[in-house]
Amino acid sequence: MTAKRILLGISGGIAAYKGAEVLRALQKRGHEVQVVMTQNATEFVSPLTFAALSHREALVEEFDCPGDPIPHITLGQGCDLFLIAPATANVIGKMAAGIADDLLTSTFIACTAPVMVSPAMNVHMYENAAVQENLETLRRRGVQVIDAASGYQACGDVGAGRFPEPEAIAEAVEEFFARSASAGCLAGKRVLITAGPTVEPIDAVRFISNYSSGKMGYALAAEALARGAEVTLVSGPVALEAPAGAQLVSVKTAREMLAACEERFGDANIFIASAAVADFRPEDPIDRKIKKGSADEGRLKEIRFVENPDILATMGAAKAPGQVVVGFAAETDNVIEYGQGKLASKQADLIVANQVGGGKGFGTDDNQAALITASGVRSLPLMPKSQLASEILDEIEKF
Ligand code: C5P
Repeated sequence: MTAKRILLGISGGIAAYKGAEVLRALQKRGHEVQVVMTQNATEFVSPLTFAALSHREALVEEFDCPGDPIPHITLGQGCDLFLIAPATANVIGKMAAGIADDLLTSTFIACTAPVMVSPAMNVHMYENAAVQENLETLRRRGVQVIDAASGYQACGDVGAGRFPEPEAIAEAVEEFFARSASAGCLAGKRVLITAGPTVEPIDAVRFISNYSSGKMGYALAAEALARGAEVTLVSGPVALEAPAGAQLVSVKTAREMLAACEERFGDANIFIASAAVADFRPEDPIDRKIKKGSADEGRLKEIRFVENPDILATMGAAKAPGQVVVGFAAETDNVIEYGQGKLASKQADLIVANQVGGGKGFGTDDNQAALITASGVRSLPLMPKSQLASEILDEIEKF
């Protein structure tokens, strides 16, 4: 990541001393940091501490900046990010109300760069309705809010409101820059994604399905939208809300999913098959309920199956030059080997291989996967599905 200019705002709570560690964590990542403090913050930490660490004067007074008669404008327009950490209830309140009565708050009003706040205060202050509403107002206006941590507080109380670890704040900043860098890079691209399980009827009330939650496919849809793509989500039944902006096509069976994909594949630049499609379906579903003890009962005891169409393989075979086809390989063992086999057999450009079973993969918020392409295997650590979605789209963009 290229070095960024970060304006670090320090407000007057006990966590102000941790602001020095935030500064160091940002510098460690190669960023340049300028500090602006409230008068109250100087009661906790001397501006000299920040000046010594940042190698530049830590600014406090609006009317006492040598050589700059309008420091709030210069500061607010000369940075890539204004990070206020720690942000007190008072500063958050002033930001939400538009009050600009010192250098930090008037810089916020004049700031044209993205703004991030990391609230830190006593649990009762943090939970106060005014503070929560002010944070909501800031979020609504596009300010990034880093959720406060929970735990033992300086005042002796225990609960939410703790300042997160400085490393965690620096990581949130990195993630923000990474997100901003990728925003819009799929603009004009159409992404077709399958997600969730399919359900295959046995009779009018019974079906065969699997544990897929759809979380991976929905995370991919959200990430593709954030990168500016036009997204169509062909989804089996899941308990998730489609991300705003995605075109949702709800299906139940594998054959319905195939039909929905065939209709749209020609227009898609990228096809991602993340659905857990049932490989087999009951051969002859009945459109009424099979009653126990009835003459039909045998059809429940012995269900005959036929193979479902392979949607990914069908799209892989129909792929035109320039289209990118991505599949998943959820396996309980020999994950990489089977993944590599699927790359060839399904004519995919990328296979996301991951282990399932034993509590892994299906239904969880995290996933550990390997990205398999013709040029090699990249094993990723365990990470939230939202982050894995970002890694997958980064890989797709390489095509
Ligand atoms: O062959 P297998 O089911 O293990 O392959 C998994 C990949 O193929 C996933 O990407 C899944 O979405 C896709 N698939 C499919 N249609 C099927 C079975 C799997 O699209 N009938």
